[in-house]
Amino acid sequence: MDRATQLIQDRSAPPAALVIFGASGDLTRRKLLPAVESLARHERLPDQFALVGVARTPMTDEQFMESALGERTLASKRQLQGGVRYVAGGYDDPETYKRLVVTLDELDAQRGTSGNRLFYLSTPAGAFEPVINGLAGVGLNQPREGSFSRLVIEKPYGRDLVTARELDRVVHSAFDEHQVFRIDHYLGKDTVQNVLALRFANSIFQPIWDRSWVDHVQITVAETLGVGSRGGFYEDAGAMRDIVQNHVLQVLALALMEPPASFEAEGLRNEKVKLLQAIRLPTDRDIAEAAVRGQYTRGGTREDLMAGYREEAGVDPLSRTETYAAMRLNVDNWRWAGVPFYVRTGKRLPARLTEVALQFQRPPHLPIPTDQLTGLDADALILRIQPNEGISLRFGAKVPGHSFRVRTATMEFSYDQTFVEESPEAYERLLLDALIGDASLFIRSDEVQQCWRIVDPIIENWEKDNSPIPTYEAASWGPTDADRLIGRNGRKWRNSA
Ligand code: BG6
Repeated sequence: MDRATQLIQDRSAPPAALVIFGASGDLTRRKLLPAVESLARHERLPDQFALVGVARTPMTDEQFMESALGERTLASKRQLQGGVRYVAGGYDDPETYKRLVVTLDELDAQRGTSGNRLFYLSTPAGAFEPVINGLAGVGLNQPREGSFSRLVIEKPYGRDLVTARELDRVVHSAFDEHQVFRIDHYLGKDTVQNVLALRFANSIFQPIWDRSWVDHVQITVAETLGVGSRGGFYEDAGAMRDIVQNHVLQVLALALMEPPASFEAEGLRNEKVKLLQAIRLPTDRDIAEAAVRGQYTRGGTREDLMAGYREEAGVDPLSRTETYAAMRLNVDNWRWAGVPFYVRTGKRLPARLTEVALQFQRPPHLPIPTDQLTGLDADALILRIQPNEGISLRFGAKVPGHSFRVRTATMEFSYDQTFVEESPEAYERLLLDALIGDASLFIRSDEVQQCWRIVDPIIENWEKDNSPIPTYEAASWGPTDADRLIGRNGRKWRNSA
């Protein structure tokens, strides 16, 4: 077994320095540093691990260590002691990178990080290019013989197909694709990976996973939160760029792709790309029918009144940014021809809920009079990604009693009640994968481009449209247009929170 395969199987990181650009930022504080701390506490990091923060804000090594570990356990403190550094400097200042080289060389000598480097871009997207150029300027993009140099990039990866390609050009001017790890944190969620387990570690679902049995599929990413303090960022993004282009399409690809031969990175990603390529784009004329947007207005209850989007900090009072997006997609391939896929996401909806729901066709003939079937819904399999992680199977069951009446019943699998093991945080899983060098749960360049190909025409159409943006009250299930989108043929959104 070679070293790379060994690391993947052992799930522990090799000697390395993790360098976080944007070290004083929000994502670093909320997600990355807790993930490092947890990996240290769970002994997934070797003694030869080092953490280096880079940002403009002045800070000492000790202060950065303190922000990394805070009140955390002694075990993780002991593990990281002496291995945390901070380099203050501007991202477009060549001196920053010279200081970084000195720090990394010292760590190689003192800590034994072996020349292995994982550079994590957790900065605003505007800093990606200067950081990549800065790293290349001092040769940090090129690993020494026997070492690695990898680049982890946060979203947003471009703001459309053209800018994503441009960013690829910058990235590839310094790093080969195999060195690049584009993050979509949804892929780090255990329950998203469980879509793969359910589909490909079982035989019973595969035969019904196609157009012969599935009537339609609904994918929902609903949030109760508004834009909070991120109004400025969100104004330029909107729901389509922020969630659909990445999280929703990733979940959709895993749920609909063909079985890969293995979960090895290229095989898995090839299948996702093939699926994304098969998504048919609506024509300009169809867009109004195939895609719906909305923006939340003031709503909630008197005790819990929520501001409208246009009233949020950093948001233009005349903003036309969508906080809700829904689409109908078609996949033109043998398995899925003719099956509609409905996806939706929104902020300030009544429940936090991410799920994939396959609704099956009604039986071709029912040997039971219809008045004995009241309360019988179509069969459905619901994969709950969060919260209440688990799976429900909805089917008809005989109601106890002398008459033959059938009503919907549900069979439940719940993660909480079935497993005692804890789920690692998404970022913890992905950081470890990137350190190990396993790219299966990261997005390849062609995947990002496919995802932009799908959402771009809709965003462009909305940007050209001068009519008032449809609205929905905060704490409601989105604009009424969304019900019309799915409503043909009597279908309905699952609003069961
Ligand atoms: C991020 C979006 O990618 O995902 C946020 O930028 C969103 O707007 C978040 O709130 C949702 O992630 P999760 O893991 O809380 O579902």
